[in-house]
Amino acid sequence: MTESYRVFVTRVLPGDGFAELRQDPAFDLDVWPVDFPPTREELLKHVGGVDGLVCLITDTIDAAVLDAAGEQLKVVSQMAVGVDNVDVAACTARGIPVGNTPGVLTETTADMAWALMLASARRVVEAAEYVKAGQWQTWTPTQMAGVDVFGSTLGIIGFGAIGQAIARRAQGFGMRVLCWNRTPRPDEAAAVGAEQRGFDEVLAEADFVCVSTALTADTTHLIDARAFELMKPGAILVNTARGPIVDEAALVHALRAGQIGGAGLDVTAVEPLPMDSPLLAMDNVVVVPHIGSASLATRSKMADMAVANLRAGLAGEPLPHAVSTAVGSK
Ligand code: GLV
Repeated sequence: MTESYRVFVTRVLPGDGFAELRQDPAFDLDVWPVDFPPTREELLKHVGGVDGLVCLITDTIDAAVLDAAGEQLKVVSQMAVGVDNVDVAACTARGIPVGNTPGVLTETTADMAWALMLASARRVVEAAEYVKAGQWQTWTPTQMAGVDVFGSTLGIIGFGAIGQAIARRAQGFGMRVLCWNRTPRPDEAAAVGAEQRGFDEVLAEADFVCVSTALTADTTHLIDARAFELMKPGAILVNTARGPIVDEAALVHALRAGQIGGAGLDVTAVEPLPMDSPLLAMDNVVVVPHIGSASLATRSKMADMAVANLRAGLAGEPLPHAVSTAVGSK
């Protein structure tokens, strides 16, 4: 009888793929049972001797974790598109492919960028809290008046699949769309009616700045104090990518100084956002808990992809969706 593959899965996943994996005798699964991630010590302990690892953005997968796993580790499969929590270079150096889940979350995440844009512009959260607090006494000409999204200028920083999906939605809002990407993407911009501009120009002209780039060493604090100085006084910053792309201290300063008009954040520098963050005391800031891809359908598809990547990696086959294609050396 062939031995089963030992796999550590750092959380219970949705979707049929995971349910099938759990029933499959070819896999000996260790599933972290609660919603809180394993601590560092628990992670190091549970990866010992595994052939495969399925992880989430809340798990730091670095060289020490790979060493604790051991040489038989064949695949790291992350249920997310962003893999900044995984030391991909360390995996590659050990011949371990890293899988992710691009594509399926593009539209869902673009929807969230728009939800934050509209909520911030039209003060939806603030207004809903006002009603719940019993403060709705009458109608006045300027009560909860915000800014128009329709007909305004949208600036997109990072023009990958999600940035393009955000841009596509802007057509229905009669917006002018400006975009910046480190590597110019003229065809993609033209396809969605966006204009490519320099980084500074996008920031200076946009009424809404949507951050939609991967977090790397180069993009850490890409949106810094200088960027806020360039932005229009009423501009609204939306971030559905990764918190550290924005210098949060500089954001707080820009909001306090009235350099920008507001912010809609799905991601923050530290997650969960500490309750003493000044951002939480600001009426013109909407923060949601990193739920960009959180429709049940999309999260199930992401989990299915993560399982498919795991299965392929264990079988020594190319991953259907690989960040690093260190395949075949295991
Ligand atoms: C979520 O943030 C992801 O990268 O998929």
